[in-house]
Amino acid sequence: MRVTINQIKEMKARAEKIVMLTAYDYSTARLIDEAEIPLILVGDSLGMVVLGYESTIPVTMEEMLHHTKAVVRGAKKAMVIGDMPFMTYHVSVEDALRNAARFIQEAGAQAVKLEGGVTVAETVRRIVDCGIPVMGHIGLTPQSIHQLGGFKMQGKTPEAAARLLEDAKALEQAGAFAVVLETIPGNLARLITDKTDIPTIGIGAGPECDGQVQVINDILGSFTDFVPRHAKQYVKLTDIISKAVTQYRDEVKSGTFPSA
Ligand code: KIV
Repeated sequence: MRVTINQIKEMKARAEKIVMLTAYDYSTARLIDEAEIPLILVGDSLGMVVLGYESTIPVTMEEMLHHTKAVVRGAKKAMVIGDMPFMTYHVSVEDALRNAARFIQEAGAQAVKLEGGVTVAETVRRIVDCGIPVMGHIGLTPQSIHQLGGFKMQGKTPEAAARLLEDAKALEQAGAFAVVLETIPGNLARLITDKTDIPTIGIGAGPECDGQVQVINDILGSFTDFVPRHAKQYVKLTDIISKAVTQYRDEVKSGTFPSA
């Protein structure tokens, strides 16, 4: 049985921490699924860590759908959440509905995620009304990086903190089943977590959210162009891969691989 949004909400109710990781391909999704991690996000971080873009802004629907399909093939139990790319839910509600539906209908995801609070609440409500679960995302929202002036901590002033609480409340009222809190002070994340009934999933938001999400490449140390301060490298795959490919190169050149 695949994880449902009700199970995720129940985890908050019984104070069981919710684990979420990103994935962009079949084999990684399989491993995450086998580790019984309930939520897999096909994040638009795809653009940076897989496709080599400078930000998430150039990522297209077609790229997201292509990778979401691969992740869905690998994940048998986890809920797969497709991240709606920049400008696929801003132009009109109709546009947002059509694009959200493509993640579910064409790619086989079970939910979508989009960035923003009060300003996207009506869009979230309309997507949810169509039967598509929505995860919100507030705080440092990478699709607005030019407006925010860089990858900076959000919600530091009392006014900004109050606005983020209002954003979380608006998403909850619109029917979002959970909300990502990215790069905000830990005490604000705790306040939002206490004041909302939907699960909060933190990234760079301290330990007191209902769950945590990380970009898989950050915890595996396989993307080193930019390592966020909140990331913990459980292994450094860049070193392991470099060593393996160098050894392979040397063995082919010297004739020791392949054997007879
Ligand atoms: O795109 C992504 O990977 C994300 C997570 C960092 C939450 O939005």
